[in-house]
Amino acid sequence: MTEVLVTGGAGFIGSNFVRHALAAHPDWHVTTLDKLTYAGRSENLKDVLDDPRHTFIRGDVGDAALVGPLLARANVVVHFAAETHVDRSISGALQFVRTDVLGTAVLLEAARSAPGLHRFIQISTDEVYGSVATGASRETDELKPRNPYSASKAAADRLAYSYWATYDVPVVIARPSNNYGPYQYPEKVIPLFVTNAIDGLPLPLYGDGQNVRDWLHVEDHCRALDLLIGRGVPGEVYNIGGGNEVRNVDLTRRILELLDRPASLIKPVADRLGHDRRYCLDSSKLHAMGWRPQMPFDQGLASTVAWYRENEWWWRPIKDADPAFRAYYDAHYQNRG
Ligand code: NAD
Ligand code: DAU
Repeated sequence: MTEVLVTGGAGFIGSNFVRHALAAHPDWHVTTLDKLTYAGRSENLKDVLDDPRHTFIRGDVGDAALVGPLLARANVVVHFAAETHVDRSISGALQFVRTDVLGTAVLLEAARSAPGLHRFIQISTDEVYGSVATGASRETDELKPRNPYSASKAAADRLAYSYWATYDVPVVIARPSNNYGPYQYPEKVIPLFVTNAIDGLPLPLYGDGQNVRDWLHVEDHCRALDLLIGRGVPGEVYNIGGGNEVRNVDLTRRILELLDRPASLIKPVADRLGHDRRYCLDSSKLHAMGWRPQMPFDQGLASTVAWYRENEWWWRPIKDADPAFRAYYDAHYQNRG
């Protein structure tokens, strides 16, 4: 049995990855370590919670006493756990430093003395390159993060690298682009706009709506990570781009069309502070290893919209009944102009 530790496995990408891992690798045992912050939910893993090849542990990656024994028996670590929402980092950066930087440092310290560790996959982000006006970011490009979230992720990315260079921890760094798919917390633009549109509520589009994101279906992302666990070279960085550059305004229009809702629901609001204009990844390094995104964006968006339409049980308790979500939403969007 290969023992795989997935941190942040109750979040959006992590839960999709746990499902992927259990389905694709009958000889893997997966341990999910997740603090269950506002963004982590055991519901995301409901279909695998009783799987004998899966163990769920509620806990903090920053808890050295907890993670030491987990690393001691791990063959692979896939480190997703993080604070992830850019807007929340702008209104409160410290928790991002605690989790994304210090939490990663605690895991890496434990990894130094992990006897059977074969790969430590550090999940970084395309945001570490900063906003790119033209062309596509390569793995060797300078890192120019511009918001507290991406700066924290860049720190963790380089910290992980340093543990390879200094201590020979088998770190492989993944820099994925914007993910979309099922189980994404409805603060992020696609699930927020889809669920608002279902309810006939305004879609708050930041600034002029011309910002570009490169959308990667979460299942394509999971396949890329699986490849990196097997064939990623320690000390190396791998971009994982979806190859789907879309302006936010066009994304918003497509969502409305898929739900047969009027364009009048689009509500231009004040821009995000320091809003990165565009991200774009050159993923030729991963392409050369045989990976390509398989999900066409139109198909992926339609199936994602359908998933939120068919799974109101999943998001209504957050959007309609969670006072913390309501407080966040009101503070962030009320009086935004
Ligand atoms: P998410 O916010 O949906 O999930 C994060 C998970 O981490 C949650 O389950 C949360 O409970 C857990 N967590 C937070 N702090 C923790 C702690 N101290 N200890 C243990 N668990 C903790 O995030 P996501 O969108 O699934 O992103 C996963 C990873 O991928 C993150 O590292 C993020 O930076 C990176 N990433 C995300 C995207 C994207 O588009 N979503 C793109 C590129 C990179
Ligand atoms: O690029 C990878 C990153 O993608 C990940 O590292 C982050 O964890 C993830 O949250 C995501 O960051 P973004 O800031 O790109 O995602 P978000 O869904 O918050 O916003 C996508 C775009 O939509 C961005 O240009 C801002 C815009 N937006 C977002 C929200 C929430 C709006 O116009 N209105 C909104 O209400």
